[in-house]
Amino acid sequence: MSETAKLILNGKEYELPVYEGTENEKAIDITKLLDQTGYITLDSGYKNTGSTKSAITFLDGDNGILWYRGYPIEQLSEYASFIEVAYLLIYGELPNAKELTYFQNSITQHTLVHEDMKRFYEAYPTGAHPMGVLSSMIASMSTFYPEAQNPNRPFKDIEMTMHRLMAKMPTLAAQAHKVSIGHPIIYPRNSFSYTQNFLNMMFALPTEDYEIDPVVDDALNKLLILHADHEQNCSTSTVRIVGSSQSNLYSSVSAGIAALWGPLHGGANQAVIEMLERIKADGGNTDKWIEKAKDKNDSFRLMGFGHRVYKNFDPRAKIIKKACDDVLNRLGIHDPVLDIAKRLEEVALQDPYFVERKLYPNVDFYSGIIYRAIGIPTEMFTVMFALGRLPGWIAQWKEMVEQGEPIGRPRQIYTGANKRDYMPMPLRG
Ligand code: CMC
Repeated sequence: MSETAKLILNGKEYELPVYEGTENEKAIDITKLLDQTGYITLDSGYKNTGSTKSAITFLDGDNGILWYRGYPIEQLSEYASFIEVAYLLIYGELPNAKELTYFQNSITQHTLVHEDMKRFYEAYPTGAHPMGVLSSMIASMSTFYPEAQNPNRPFKDIEMTMHRLMAKMPTLAAQAHKVSIGHPIIYPRNSFSYTQNFLNMMFALPTEDYEIDPVVDDALNKLLILHADHEQNCSTSTVRIVGSSQSNLYSSVSAGIAALWGPLHGGANQAVIEMLERIKADGGNTDKWIEKAKDKNDSFRLMGFGHRVYKNFDPRAKIIKKACDDVLNRLGIHDPVLDIAKRLEEVALQDPYFVERKLYPNVDFYSGIIYRAIGIPTEMFTVMFALGRLPGWIAQWKEMVEQGEPIGRPRQIYTGANKRDYMPMPLRG
């Protein structure tokens, strides 16, 4: 702590400590403000509020920088496996060979889901959205592993909960998909890698093996890495705030999945494809839809555009756009919505409305086109985001517990009625 901030309120001066992160980002510490002054701060949407000190992910929105534990996203997505990145996020360092084998083996051994859980699937209506199914299945895991209730257990026990989640979430996600299309569930296979196993559970049939295309496997690995963490976003903050009441990890992650589902957050990847399809069906006139997005009387927004933090470009979008071209070329697919997406981007990036508001394509703008090319149905897109984000949620929950953070409890400014007396019904007319 080198500087302090001064606040003058009603003629009285208060000194507030300033914190500096390892990349020189600065924060004024207001934890004692209420006690000292009687005032709280007001910041809807937490646009300018640091909720924690975290050593997991560094993000510089102005310069389009994203690092996991110090490693640039460009290097990790090019060279690492998703499992290595998950280890890095959760444990803090890249694994050596022995550590990676331990982690991989433990996850492989826990991919089976308790058979009793299959009965839940029978209760969901046809067409149930897989995000709703996944969120409730993950919450249900806490009933199968009640020992997870206490987050203050020895690390070995908590570690088992983390490994179980990493292991079972792809199984539950693929099962949700199979059930939704009326196909029998495909069980996990221990001989496959994490991503191969997921693809097999999604696409194999009891009557027919699924041949895993290395191009598809590569693309999935990259997409999961690019989604693995993104510091204190809506779903991660949800995981931390639920966990701050000492609720167990399964429930906290289940709440994170619910938060991710919304179209302003992870649900945007589904919304982007639906939007592109709508534009295509409407004749493909991108200018018309750009005008609609700018019109304040029209609720339409350009999905996959804009970001709370990135104000020049989203580094993930850059990588995904290239991956999208590569995957479609290598699979020999021509998807007309990719042409529409590129036209929209081109027009929007020159339009003063988008330029002035610093609205750029985000991670979700091109990811859906890749998912579609590799055979993932639209309703599963946000589930894919959740699979990628899982190690980030786990790492953030673990950090929150280890830092002994207090229960999350924001304040408010009350704008309701002043005190009034209750009147019995006959007097109210
Ligand atoms: N299309 C048209 N106008 C937009 C858009 C958009 N996609 N995004 C923001 N704006 C306008 C907004 O109307 C506002 O204009 P004005 O200043 O005239 O009122 C201005 O830009 C600032 O927008 P905001 O809503 O105050 O910005 P925010 O930081 O609160 O919201 C956002 C960020 C991502 C929710 C928003 O940009 C959005 O709704 N984008 C579309 C949904 C989307 O793609 N979400 C995925 C985010 S990335 C994945 C993830 O990590 O969750």
